[in-house]
Amino acid sequence: MDSPAIRDSTVLVTGGAGFIGSHLVDALVPHNEVRVLDNFTTGDPAHLPDDVTVIEGDVGDPIALQEAARGVDVIFHHAAVVSVTQSVDRPRQSNRTNLEAGLLVLEQARQEDARVVVASSAAVYGHPEELPVSETASTNPTSPYGVQKLALDEYARLYAELYDLPTVALRYFNVYGPRQRGPYSGVISTFLEQARADEPITIEGDGQQSRDFVHVSDVVRANLRAATTDAVGEAYNVGTGERTTIRDLAETVRDATESSSSIAHREPRPGDIRHSGADTAKTARELGFEARVGLESGIRSLVERDAGVPTRGDPETAVELPGE
Ligand code: UD1
Repeated sequence: MDSPAIRDSTVLVTGGAGFIGSHLVDALVPHNEVRVLDNFTTGDPAHLPDDVTVIEGDVGDPIALQEAARGVDVIFHHAAVVSVTQSVDRPRQSNRTNLEAGLLVLEQARQEDARVVVASSAAVYGHPEELPVSETASTNPTSPYGVQKLALDEYARLYAELYDLPTVALRYFNVYGPRQRGPYSGVISTFLEQARADEPITIEGDGQQSRDFVHVSDVVRANLRAATTDAVGEAYNVGTGERTTIRDLAETVRDATESSSSIAHREPRPGDIRHSGADTAKTARELGFEARVGLESGIRSLVERDAGVPTRGDPETAVELPGE
């Protein structure tokens, strides 16, 4: 089931200076010629290694995209407005980046005859009718962000069907890891910041809602599989298959940081999904990918790395190319 590693290729990572994109760039750089297209609104140039060609620009700008994509073999499309809240406040603005620019990427890939790996999301499912949620479950997004990701995910499938373009859509569950920060970052980075400052850890609602937390190094490995798989034209869940409640997460973070934070509850988030967890069977079977990093060791390594403790088997550096 091992697909060969991607090597000696010219690749483009849109959003390559962002949280997930920059980890992917790190994994690609040793064996490939890597280009990054990023407008640095949320991405950080400091995350980029020296050996990449950086095109500063908007993924929705056809000229910048054309330049960045010229002659590439694979495009990993990670540029996005990732905030669900922002998409609710300004649906047309996020649509321009998340859907219109995504379509531009698919069109550009047709010109270049390049493979496209699209960053999709568990948000396409909305409130899941069954748990764990499989790729064949009904899709009922509850936000413009989810609608935009679903449309792009469908376009990716359609481009494979209509134009024979090799595409893969990866439906990420709740991704966490180093370099995730900012006002719209995930609950784990928020809890870690609160715990480190010995401030109350703020649970929205009763804390019994659950999520499938997947480490960014596993997400990178899923992308590397998607880069070479023959099973194209498909969408795959990228999660661990394990669900954790937000209450348990708060306690795990507090323990790992040895913090004296209290745990406080506040109003639930409007429209919050109660439970989310991936059925990972199709991804394991067809993509040959299974997550390796458990939540506790993932959090521990984040805490240790912040404390400057070198960790053996640090998940961030544990990204191995398939086939190695
Ligand atoms: C996440 C993704 C989103 C994706 C979705 C797919 C992030 C930032 N967002 O949304 O892009 O579409 O998964 O399923 O990764 N919470 C607290 N206290 C806090 C912050 C959050 O209790 O301080 C709770 C939230 O109410 C929620 C849970 O933690 O119940 C997870 O929140 P969050 O990390 O923002 O992710 P999702 O909303 O699941």
